[in-house]
Amino acid sequence: MSTAPAKRYRLEPGGSVSGAVRMPGDKSISHRALMLSGIAEGTSEIRGFLPSEDCLATLAALRALGVPIERPEPERVLVHGVGALGLTAASGPLDMGNAGTAMRLFMGLLAGQPFDSTLIGDASLMRRPMERVAAPLRLMGARIRTHAGRPPVEIAGGSRLTAIDYELPVASAQVKSAILLAALGASGRTRITEPAAARDHTERMLEQFGAELVSSGPTVAIEGGQALRATGVQVPGDFSSAAFFLVAGCLAAAGPLTLQGVGVNPTRTGLLDLLREMGADIRLHRPPGASTDLRSEPFADIEVRASRLRGIKVPGSVVPLAIDEFPVFFIAAACAEGDTLVRGALELRVKESDRLAVMAEGLGRLGVEHDLLEDGLWIRGRGGFEGGSVDSHGDHRIAMAFAVASLKASAPIEILDVANVATSFPGFLEVARAAGLRIEQLP
Ligand code: S3P
Repeated sequence: MSTAPAKRYRLEPGGSVSGAVRMPGDKSISHRALMLSGIAEGTSEIRGFLPSEDCLATLAALRALGVPIERPEPERVLVHGVGALGLTAASGPLDMGNAGTAMRLFMGLLAGQPFDSTLIGDASLMRRPMERVAAPLRLMGARIRTHAGRPPVEIAGGSRLTAIDYELPVASAQVKSAILLAALGASGRTRITEPAAARDHTERMLEQFGAELVSSGPTVAIEGGQALRATGVQVPGDFSSAAFFLVAGCLAAAGPLTLQGVGVNPTRTGLLDLLREMGADIRLHRPPGASTDLRSEPFADIEVRASRLRGIKVPGSVVPLAIDEFPVFFIAAACAEGDTLVRGALELRVKESDRLAVMAEGLGRLGVEHDLLEDGLWIRGRGGFEGGSVDSHGDHRIAMAFAVASLKASAPIEILDVANVATSFPGFLEVARAAGLRIEQLP
């Protein structure tokens, strides 16, 4: 089991951001590119891969399952796919580290294999709910054991999977993706219906690897037994990493701040809509000649300027489209004029930390008035923050969100337990400094 050493950030208050910064590869897409390449026939080349701890956990797990993988450069990966029936048993438990996406998608990938597998992770992942994936996979015939609903996840080999017609109880791309991966190896046609749109990277990428999917409204259908063909994958920059700089730009850009090469798949960019509704000046520049193929992932340079933000009521339908961006959205809300209300966001309580409780605690430490609700947060915008010490509880996105808060703080901010920033954004410190944040890391 991985345990990251505790580290701290210290940020000087104030300052501004400007210039152009390139975002690291998308985490969700990097996981999927590795997994689909691993079970495809032939060699796939992944460019723009995110070399973060989470994605490297997926890479190591695939190697342990017998997939030969070369990494000639940190962001270029060659995966020699073993085909649908080519994975082999790992010699021990597969350690997913902090990566919920890795664990849940591997559950789908491994449910129909002829061998047993055990999935474990770090202290945070070992507390996260896995029945939401195990339950539909059992309906397909998988034999999976969780412990009080949590990891370790034990998957018995040799189950023959059959298609299901499944209505997701929560809008979760991880659950949808796990079922899609299991469905590939199942007999019959699986149909999955989502209660609200969640990110569709798996659907797009399955099509890029030659699979046929049929979408109609909230339902996607896939026929079992389809073989995947190796292909080239260009991973766009991670919108969820860009989110920190989008908010930083709104709060304190001196001139335009440009975030280069960012994925703008509409199932990920809910934060753009929310910030624009608050009054943000954000412009997208799509590269000339960009693909219009609906299966590929759209990307753009995003330009943001300092903006006066107003508090808003977040529409429930946008919540899944901005699900990972709420930590930094709450920072924007605290700097806005007027109140901001988020409801229908119970899912935030089962992320890498309980993001409602941990953000509420940190906002309180920095003098922001708020009410913690069962499924959301009510924030009274007051233009900025007091200085102080905030505990990220090992949650990467909370650590980065409070770093952004320093731009509008009246005294230094210390952020505790930040080592897990490397799970999604290994170069954060350097990129944040290049943009203008006055940040240093302390042991
Ligand atoms: C992800 C889906 C989301 C998101 C997570 C990544 C994915 O989780 O929060 O960071 O890559 O599919 P849920 O599916 O639990 O909503």
